[in-house]
Amino acid sequence: MGILTDGINEVIATTRSNAAPMGIIARNGVYRIVCFNGSHTEKNIVRDRWVVANIVHDPVLFVRTAFSDLPETAFVQEDVDGTLMDRLADTEAWIAFSAVIEKRGTQSMTVRITPVVEKVLSCRPRPVNRGFSAIIEATVHGTRYRLSGNPDLKKLIDHYRSIIRKCGGSRELEALALFDSFIADEQGGHFTGEIPR
Ligand SMILES: Cc1cc2nc3c(=O)[nH]c(=O)nc-3n(C[C@H](O)[C@H](O)[C@H](O)COP(=O)(O)O)c2cc1C
Repeated sequence: MGILTDGINEVIATTRSNAAPMGIIARNGVYRIVCFNGSHTEKNIVRDRWVVANIVHDPVLFVRTAFSDLPETAFVQEDVDGTLMDRLADTEAWIAFSAVIEKRGTQSMTVRITPVVEKVLSCRPRPVNRGFSAIIEATVHGTRYRLSGNPDLKKLIDHYRSIIRKCGGSRELEALALFDSFIADEQGGHFTGEIPR
């Protein structure tokens, strides 16, 4: 197993019929996910005790899965040691993990995950693009902004928005338009419900 690197790996995590961006924390060969309470990912991991990390570089997919659902056709089932696990159809690589709940808190749950199988499906060099990185940053802040309406987050999002416009390619600009369509609902007021879908 060698795809994930030390530090926090931003992936799209799939659980049964669900996908969401998540950070996989890798430290000294130990892997963990911290899931905020209330997400589908959290509920599915508690129920099924597995999660798949999808390595993706599509900014639109990061935005879409952060704020909404994907259709069933977006998933492919893999038999991992007798357990059927869902991965993204459109992924460059995937790593299937078994999961053990380490800690449950009032805000989040810490899950220790162990890689079982990993597969690379495609491999191409990717030049660093600040527009892509800024989409990731804006989307992280956007998921929190939708919950809190915190104006400091709005300022950060506006900063990343300008980097996306300056450095992004057409796919990053498409992702930004999608991002704005999800965030627009909350401008002028703030989201007060469960973690957004
Ligand atoms: C790059 C990125 C990383 C994220 N990492 C995490 C994480 O580690 N834990 C978490 O609970 N939410 C994380 N989020 C927020 C979730 O993706 C977001 O709350 C999502 O709506 C959860 O979807 P779900 O209900 O389908 O699980 C991250 C978002 C982004 C954009």
